[in-house]
Amino acid sequence: MGTARNTVSKSTMITNFRASLNTYLLILQWLLYPSFVCCFLLFLLCSISPEGVHAQIEEFNTLYHPDLRQDIFVKDDHYYLNVPRVGTYAVYDTLDCTIECLSNPSCFSLNLAASKGADGKLWCELLTSEKYSNPGEYKRNESSHHFSIKTACHSSPCRNGGTCVPNYKYHTFDCGCKDGYVGDLCEVFAPKSCKQVYDHYADKSQRSQLVKLFFNSTPTSVLCQIGDFGCGPGGWTPVMKINGSERTFHYDSVLWTNKQSFNIDGGKTGFDAAETKLPSYWNTSFSKICLGMNISQEVRFAVIDRQADSLHSLIADGQYRNTSLGRDAWKALIGSQGSLQRYCDKEGFNALTGGSLNTQVQTRIGIISNNYDHCSNCDSRIGFGAGGDPDHSNVCGNVADGRYDPDNGGKNIKGIGYILVQ
Ligand SMILES: *[C@@H]1O[C@H](CO)[C@@H](O)[C@H](O)[C@H]1NC(C)=O
Ligand SMILES: *[C@@H]1O[C@H](CO)[C@@H](O)[C@H](O)[C@H]1NC(C)=O
Ligand SMILES: *[C@@H]1O[C@H](CO)[C@@H](O)[C@H](O)[C@H]1NC(C)=O
Ligand SMILES: *[C@@H]1O[C@H](CO)[C@@H](O)[C@H](O)[C@H]1NC(C)=O
Ligand SMILES: *[C@@H]1O[C@H](CO)[C@@H](O)[C@H](O)[C@H]1NC(C)=O
Repeated sequence: MGTARNTVSKSTMITNFRASLNTYLLILQWLLYPSFVCCFLLFLLCSISPEGVHAQIEEFNTLYHPDLRQDIFVKDDHYYLNVPRVGTYAVYDTLDCTIECLSNPSCFSLNLAASKGADGKLWCELLTSEKYSNPGEYKRNESSHHFSIKTACHSSPCRNGGTCVPNYKYHTFDCGCKDGYVGDLCEVFAPKSCKQVYDHYADKSQRSQLVKLFFNSTPTSVLCQIGDFGCGPGGWTPVMKINGSERTFHYDSVLWTNKQSFNIDGGKTGFDAAETKLPSYWNTSFSKICLGMNISQEVRFAVIDRQADSLHSLIADGQYRNTSLGRDAWKALIGSQGSLQRYCDKEGFNALTGGSLNTQVQTRIGIISNNYDHCSNCDSRIGFGAGGDPDHSNVCGNVADGRYDPDNGGKNIKGIGYILVQ
């Protein structure tokens, strides 16, 4: 904001305007004195170009005085803003309506009839908010013109899709940033997920890359998986890598219920055997979960469509939550060796059967099956974060007890599991 005190004559200001077709400005100054109201009014109605707008704003500010309510109105022909009113008046012309608005501290914009009624007057609606914060209520309407007070938001200063909230008193603004952006103008990119990284860059042929994600103020380096490696296109944020022969991510592990990371460096490498749990477990929202299973150097994938605030929010409370991949999709994660019994097929998060803690079949994410048409005493599973019969030590993979009729024979296959979200 300029602070120069030089004043500008009316004729100088007018010569600064340039002709254009659709923006009209009204400049009003309104002096308020304690015992009476003295009105000094400068009224200009003319067409100007965007450069003209700029020149005018600067000169306008040189006239600034703390006792004035002075505002520039921007006119949009044939528009109507449908928000609550502070008052409705019948007026003779535009000037009357804008003066009513300036004399009401709650007025931030107005609708004015496009043509006079039978009484020779125009209706004039004073409004409590403006078009920037109500874009959905701002519509074309042949019978109305809309006038809004020109604010610091008029030049769309907020970057990267941020919303601008004007401060009328101080002629400033605040930006409400979209997820993944920070800074006064939302100009700083601070992604919290690989989806935000993918969406931010125009080049959609990006490759998987090491990226600093801002789960909190300190960035975490993570290998963002970009593109379709088996779970569909876009940016995938790694969450966990599980060695099915290790106890680390056993069903009973507190790592499923707490918000503590494990071996963050494992997030910097791809589909290998470095176990990890990243802050994305409790900090990243998503609409899809990608499950990968690496068995004998071959990784197979399945995608669960599921919206959640975090994986922690689906798992940590121990509640069962169903999914509907179907037993064939779970078996396909294992490949041709996949084997399950033919009944029950309870799948999802925290799928488990009754029984004592060491014998019940458990998976944090997976499917359990039975040789009877119910889900107690299951003897087979495919899952991530597993435990229980028939092999308590198989934490990620496929177990099926050959004595109880699995559809592809008895199996005990331990894999390396990968969990990513988008
Ligand atoms: C235009 O605005 C007037 C005044 O509020 C309203 O009565 C009318 O329904 C609107 N017309 C359209 C097409 O929205
Ligand atoms: C998985 O863990 C087991 C048990 O500690 C270990 O022997 C094996 O080497 C690990 N697998 C890989 C691929 O590192
Ligand atoms: C992400 O984690 C940080 C610190 O661990 C926490 O302050 C923040 O609230 C979390 N955000 C979400 C969305 O869970
Ligand atoms: C699969 O796991 C093996 C270890 O068992 C590992 O060497 C390999 O890098 C992993 N990934 C792929 C794509 O094979
Ligand atoms: C899954 O759970 C939802 C909500 O709890 C329920 O409405 C739905 O019927 C369940 N689906 C199956 C296949 O059990």
